[in-house]
Amino acid sequence: MAQFQTCTEHTFIVSTTDRVCIIDFNSIYQGDAPWDISRPQKEFVRLEEAGEIVGSVLDVGCGTGENALFLSARGHEVWGIDFTSNAIKKARDKATERNLNVTFLTRNVLDLHALGRVLDTVIDSGLFHVFSDEERPLFVTSLASVLRRHGTYFMLCLSELEPGSYGPRYGPRRVTQAEIRNAFSSSWHINYIRQARIESRRLTEGTQAWLSSISKE
Ligand SMILES: C[S@@+](CC[C@H](N)C(=O)[O-])C[C@H]1O[C@@H](n2cnc3c(N)ncnc32)[C@H](O)[C@@H]1O
Repeated sequence: MAQFQTCTEHTFIVSTTDRVCIIDFNSIYQGDAPWDISRPQKEFVRLEEAGEIVGSVLDVGCGTGENALFLSARGHEVWGIDFTSNAIKKARDKATERNLNVTFLTRNVLDLHALGRVLDTVIDSGLFHVFSDEERPLFVTSLASVLRRHGTYFMLCLSELEPGSYGPRYGPRRVTQAEIRNAFSSSWHINYIRQARIESRRLTEGTQAWLSSISKE
């Protein structure tokens, strides 16, 4: 069983039985992050085209903002939050270049209450799977503070169906359907959890993921 622990503002220690590794998001964003595909994830394009993403949107752990920028171009009011300053700088630069109006903020998603806003929809592309067991309930409480009643959280996370373990060579923590159901067992309604893919720079066919639609009761 691996343990994740936030050790500084944007650095994670991941320890497994046979290795310890540190994920320093700011350093990763100095170059091209493996998950940063310079366009929106197909799963979010499909959700938008299907009309599932409604109203104002918050992109939690938005990285350099491709999903947020796509939704802004489709007419949504969009906010993007990430605690990695290098990622937010890149996201803001892209918004300027593309003449899009997205509010990108360097903030911790475990304290969304501080935003002082309630939004209709929250999207998550690859954030939930970085949390430790201890951080998951903190995030769910934080999420509830920023999502309107009956608003929906769409979450794309790596699934246990993807072979391998944790760490730089293997990618992030695998999440099971049961873990998702457990995290959102109280005051939330799980509309669906579907098999999906997370695209990456290394693997255009993507890795095995869960796409969850979860509404606040
Ligand atoms: C795998 S990356 C995905 C980035 C982006 N959503 C994408 O699809 O390209 C996870 C992101 O979550 C951010 N992150 C992790 N924990 C966070 C926290 N507690 N608060 C804010 N951002 C966080 C990281 O900085 C990183 O940008």
